[in-house]
Amino acid sequence: MQARPAAIRLGVNVDHVATVRQARGTDYPDPVEAGLLAAAAGAHSITIHLREDRRHIQEHDVRRLKSRCPVPVNLEMAVTEDMVAFACRVKPQCACLVPERRQELTTEGGLDVAGHEAEISAACRRLARAGIAVALFIDPEPAQLKAALRTGAPHIEIHTGAYAEARGARQQRERARIARFAAQAHAAGLEVHAGHGLNLDNVASIARIAPIVELNIGHSIIARALFVGLPAAVAEMRRAMTDARGW
Ligand code: PXP
Repeated sequence: MQARPAAIRLGVNVDHVATVRQARGTDYPDPVEAGLLAAAAGAHSITIHLREDRRHIQEHDVRRLKSRCPVPVNLEMAVTEDMVAFACRVKPQCACLVPERRQELTTEGGLDVAGHEAEISAACRRLARAGIAVALFIDPEPAQLKAALRTGAPHIEIHTGAYAEARGARQQRERARIARFAAQAHAAGLEVHAGHGLNLDNVASIARIAPIVELNIGHSIIARALFVGLPAAVAEMRRAMTDARGW
């Protein structure tokens, strides 16, 4: 008999609640309130991305979320001196290191760990000393996995953007690539997460990949919340994931 896969967790990214707030320069809707609602509806962690251009989440959001959130806070951040220093002061439970370009609509592509190994390793060490569990957001490419292992980061998050954008046979190939990569990373001792572009239509086949134990999902949940409310949108996504996983 095959062993039952570990349960899968849902991290809800609430950046786009802040996007609506920043569009008018008001103090509502509050992404922290959204994070608390999502946690009450079953999110296992709350993710926010403090971007260099501060286009949505602001520093005070991170501090307020950290002090009030009953589940772990996962801070997505670029590998810059300012961001590492900020994270070490605020001490979210988790941090996910991502690449950042000012003109991009959202995070495009994974972190080039292989190309910036010394800098990323130094950031991982500083964040680990502050008690923060670090994940590296990477594309499912063997060179990135080898480099990620050398940084000492305990977690990786696999970029599922290419899978989410592909259709038909190409999507199946992307899914197979992610599954192989997740198995290799897990066998090498890393905790494996995944995210980007996941929605109710494409989440099941990623949630079925046993070594993946956490999915971080934002845009589709916040978009769905406009019609059904945030607690229902979180509950729907959790159900889609646990149904696919078998529990
Ligand atoms: N994981 C990471 C590292 C991300 O940068 C993002 C986007 O902020 C997500 C997950 C969530 O992606 P989406 O909003 O497409 O669900």
